[in-house]
Order: sequence, then C-alpha cells, then structure tokens
Amino acid sequence: MAMNDLDEQAVAILRTNDRGGFTVPTARLYPFQWNWDSAFAALGFSTFDLDRAWREIEMLFEGQWPDGMVPHIIFRRDDPDYFPGPSVWGTEAEPPTSGHSQPPVAASVVRMLHDKDGSEAGTGRATALYPKLLAWHRWFHTARDPDGRGVIAVVHPWESGRDNSPDWDAALANVEPTAARSYVRRDTGHVDASMRPTQSDYDRYMSIVDSGRACRWQPACMADTGPFFAADPGITFVLMRADRDLLALAESLDIAEGHEEIADWIARAEAGIDRLWNDAVGGYTALDLKTGKSAGGLSSVAFLAWYAGLVESARADKLADGLRRFLDAAPFAVPSFDPTSAKFDRMRYWRGPVWAVINSLIGRGLAEAGHTKLADRVRRDTRKLIERAGFFEYFDPQTGAGAGGGNFTWTAATWLVWASPSASEV
Ligand code: GLC
Repeated sequence: MAMNDLDEQAVAILRTNDRGGFTVPTARLYPFQWNWDSAFAALGFSTFDLDRAWREIEMLFEGQWPDGMVPHIIFRRDDPDYFPGPSVWGTEAEPPTSGHSQPPVAASVVRMLHDKDGSEAGTGRATALYPKLLAWHRWFHTARDPDGRGVIAVVHPWESGRDNSPDWDAALANVEPTAARSYVRRDTGHVDASMRPTQSDYDRYMSIVDSGRACRWQPACMADTGPFFAADPGITFVLMRADRDLLALAESLDIAEGHEEIADWIARAEAGIDRLWNDAVGGYTALDLKTGKSAGGLSSVAFLAWYAGLVESARADKLADGLRRFLDAAPFAVPSFDPTSAKFDRMRYWRGPVWAVINSLIGRGLAEAGHTKLADRVRRDTRKLIERAGFFEYFDPQTGAGAGGGNFTWTAATWLVWASPSASEV
C-alpha cells in the first residue's frame, strides 16, 4: 500500500502500544490486553506485519479459560494505575484475567488473516486457533444463552464492550450499588470525568463484580443469581457474523469438526433475533432478561444487522430509515446512541460519541448489503474525524472533536485497514 502521513502515524501507534506480542488499547488508561481491541489491533498489524498480527490473537487465547471463555482483560502483571485490577476480580486464572468476556470479533479477524496470508504457516496458525474459537463460541451460546433463546446476554455492561450505553440504564437501576467498601476510580484521573461513566453507574459496576466473584464467575450462578442479565443486540450480531466466518474458515481449512453445530447456532440466532425487535423505536434493542423489558432507545449496534447477514425483510428498510435519522441529526456518523433521544450525550463514552471500530463494522455490513451510499458516508466521516482530530478513542458526533484516550490502538488499526484512502479493504 502507498503510505500517507496518517498511515505512518497509525503504524507508529501500533508499534508504540505493542508490549511484546500483545497491544494495549492506549498507555496508562488501559494498560493491559483487552479482548476485542486486540482483534482489531491484529487487523491493523496485518497491513504491514502479518506475523505480528497472528501473534496478537495467539496471545489473546493464552488467556482462554478451560470452559472456553476468553476474558475481556488479560492482566499478566498488575498496574497500580488501573482499577479494578486482578485482585478485585479474584478469578485465580493464570495468566490473571477478568471474569467475563467481550464481543467475539476474533473469528472474523482470523478468517481475514487466513485469507490474506495464504502461506502454509498461516494455515497452520489458523488451524491451531480454530478449536479455540469454536470452544469460545460454544461457551457464548450456552453460558450466555442458557435457555436457547437465540439471543446472547451479558452479565455486566462491560461484557458488551459498551459500558455506559443507555441500553443498560433500566437493568442497571435494579442493581444495588456497592456499599460494602470504598474504592478509588483510576479512569477519571486520566480522562475528564464528563467523558466517562457516572459515579452512580460505577458503584453498580462494582456491585456486579462483587457478585461475580461470589459466584466464582460460574455462568449458571451469574445468570440465575447475578443482579444483571440482559440480551445485547451488539454481541448477538457480532457473534452471528463470527459464526458465519468461523464456518467459512472451517470450510477453507477442510475441517469437518463443528459444521453442524455452528449452522445450528446461526439458525437459532436468525429465529431468536426477533425477540430484540422493538417496533416502537424501529430497531433491535437490548432486552432485560430479569424483567422482560426492552430498552427504549436505539443504539448504533442495531445497525450491525447487515454485518450479521440480516439483509432481507421490511425490518431492514425500517432500520435504514433509523440510520438516516441518526445521520440527519449528526454531522459525523455514526453516533453510538440516537441523537434525537433525551438520553443522547455527545461526549459521554457510549451515550453518543462516534467509535471508529463500530463504524467499520456497520460500514462493512452496509457495503455488503448494497447500501453503497450509506456505507460511503460512514467511511468518509470516519476518515474525516481521524484526519481532523487524530487517533482518539471516540469522537463528538456534533463537532468532530476527539475525546477519551489518545493514540488509540483500535482507532489506528481501523484507519489502516478501512478508513485510510490507501486501505484496500471495503
Ligand atoms: C472501554 C470500552 C471497551 C474497550 C476498552 C478498551 O472499556 O468500553 O469497549 O474494550 O475500553 O479500549
């Protein structure tokens, strides 16, 4: 690829955030290996160092639990600058990890790496990863969908990767805040508090961690007795896509194991996704499985339906109308929450800001489904945001200002693989 200045900066960010085979999302604010950040980092590395790209995923799977779960953070070593660290999670895992997972984008990434690689060594690496990916997907389909509804739940807002989204407001309001002990947040020491979750949210996050520890992070205990269990359209769509990619990977690797099982998961999800459709808001929304109540607003992850392969139906048209509404109300696509809602907060993390990685998934799905104009708008805006503001964690959809952490790994990776004029991938 012909590199431009921003390409070079993006490469430098990945190299700087490299901690020897795995990448931190950004120095200080997030000093460990995060699950889906790493998968996106691998895609970024694949544009200039394929070996390093594979290594990122392999190191992520070093944290896999015996039951198949791949944790959302692998700590490896403690860092007093981060809270909550390994002792708070109390998982007894080796290497030390958190106790729940994050959106499973890795299978989709491994498929892309394998397609790109084409060498015997690449086939060997994909073959070694396949059973691990299969075990992780199986874990999601059982641990986080114990009743076989075809929608995937999260036990903590952190598991969704969209910590303070309004999707979780009602379910979180039913969680007793932690009163038992005091703690000191570290995130607001690195980033302005107005761009981070509120204290009231945080007290509830910690309360769920306490209950997870009491359950020894066992899925059945968390689903039955944990204070939070909500179906997430984001993970459900990401997993639906990842299942399709895993099946395609198995076929291209000539591996027979898992075919039927994966096809069943896909069929179950295609039938189950209707449960998340909310006609009042014209989209797929989160569903509190403790109360049966649907979240009353639209998040940008609803627009991952195309990425998940759900392209036919009147619902897809309604969804496209919803996306146009988002885009009409905000100069920069795609706000993480409905910009016409009272809950929209343009600078506060997952309550409004634009996230480049989510844009890349939405844009890819739109392009595949033939919504070329919308796909172009999403990609163009992402490019503009990064060109103007730099490689920030997220962006204000009204002004385009960068927010949160800087020199961010997944923003740099998304630039290289998708948003840069030199990116070859659509
Ligand atoms: C925040 C995000 C999460 C991400 C992590 C590291 O917690 O909500 O999605 O993985 O930061 O970047």
